[in-house]
Amino acid sequence: MLKQEIEDGEVSLADPAFRADVLRGFGSSPRAIPARWFYDRRGSELFEAITDLPEYYPTRTETAILRSACAEVATLAGEGRAVVEFGSGSSTKTPILLGAVAPAAYVPIDISGDFLRDSSAQLAAAFPGLPVLPVEADFMRPIPLPTQVADLPKLGFFPGSTIGNMIPHAATDLLRAMKASLGEGAMLLIGMDRIKDEHVLTAAYDDAQGVTAAFNLNLLERINRELGGTIPVDKFRHRAVWNDDRARIEMHLEALEAVSFTIEGRGFEMAAGETIHTENSHKFGARDARILLRAGGWTPIAEWTDPDGLFAVILAEAQPARLAP
Ligand code: AVI
Repeated sequence: MLKQEIEDGEVSLADPAFRADVLRGFGSSPRAIPARWFYDRRGSELFEAITDLPEYYPTRTETAILRSACAEVATLAGEGRAVVEFGSGSSTKTPILLGAVAPAAYVPIDISGDFLRDSSAQLAAAFPGLPVLPVEADFMRPIPLPTQVADLPKLGFFPGSTIGNMIPHAATDLLRAMKASLGEGAMLLIGMDRIKDEHVLTAAYDDAQGVTAAFNLNLLERINRELGGTIPVDKFRHRAVWNDDRARIEMHLEALEAVSFTIEGRGFEMAAGETIHTENSHKFGARDARILLRAGGWTPIAEWTDPDGLFAVILAEAQPARLAP
């Protein structure tokens, strides 16, 4: 993070990109802030708590799928690949994959150096002898991988249905960037959440204990903490709605009454009922998931789901460039 002076002479520790996204997001119509800003320390803790909620099925469902599918993944992918994880790695899911596929190296990629260092140290301790080569980078762009893995075939790993947090054109850009980073002969193991009963979906994003509400509202608290904001957080409520047309859960923060506040000295007003759009979480029918992967340059070769069809894990291989009619 960079230090910068703000108007009243105090020193702000805010990330300039956070500042720019927040000021642009509050000033635009409709108001929207990129979901990646949820994940400060408090937001990351709240997300961890979400993954244990009874209503939030994705994490435990995907973990169970990985446990039963990884032996088959190992057969299809073969031994000796460099596993490249997009994100800093989960303490539960990553060891399941690494324990099954006999990798030659593990390369986690994350923009947050802190999380990357912690999770890399944990995995190195759990897999002695496995080269763990963290890369601090924004995986939305093609990334040069460490030279030690240059000649190894790659297996990309992108669990959690994080792909669903991107709008379709950003999702295909990301899949193409992954293909470019991983190179010829690469495979990708990706988690994608399925379309299902609307009530199951809305409950997963608006739980009874209010943890998801706290996660969403923490974004306003973060703005107040890091950008010297005066947003009256208690005058906002969390909303999670299913947008059927776009096949996604949307999270919003809704003003309960007319409010005015400042962020870094700039004034904003919101009327009662006005919202800030904070997250999209797209869900995929089985064919939708395969089309998205193909659009991003990947050919699905195997897929696994749970008995209730809540979530899917798909193995795909990098599509060679070819002519099509
Ligand atoms: C990280 N991501 C896949 C989560 C999701 O389900 O879209 C983030 C989340 N937002 C609210 N609950 C969980």
